[in-house]
Amino acid sequence: MRSSAAVFSRLLLVAPCALLLASGLRAADEPDAAAIFKQKCSMCHGADGKGFAAIKTPDFTDPKWQESITDEKIVETIKNGKKGTPMPPFADKLKEDEIQALVKYIRSLNSEKKKE
Ligand code: HEC
Repeated sequence: MRSSAAVFSRLLLVAPCALLLASGLRAADEPDAAAIFKQKCSMCHGADGKGFAAIKTPDFTDPKWQESITDEKIVETIKNGKKGTPMPPFADKLKEDEIQALVKYIRSLNSEKKKE
């Protein structure tokens, strides 16, 4: 008969493996852009992305603004910031896939898209 200690030690081995697997699966998911936006961008761009006139942040929900900017420009702005404005660079704070997810998120704020 197996001793309970042996069973227990086996459990101790299995538990961390299950945890590792679970966190690995989560890392493979898309980053939570809404959460990142709320944490790192909303204080200047507004929780709804509409911006604040006082610091001249653009209205991300405005279809005209959406048309005026390419995905590449959004990526570049997030990475490098905008010189001479309060828009800070995030190249060393966000991963590539987080930046890509933010671009999608910003696009999803387009009020024209929401109507569809
Ligand atoms: C400290 C305030 C601040 C924070 C934090 C901030 N921004 Fe900005 N952002 C600005 C300002 C101000 C502008 C407008 C700059 C200008 O005058 O063209 C701007 C502009 C932008 C633009 C438009 C660029 C363009 O050329 O029109 C994008 C896209 C953008 N920010 C994305 C983000 C994202 C994504 C985050 C979070 C990861 C973020 N910003 C965090 C202040 C901020």
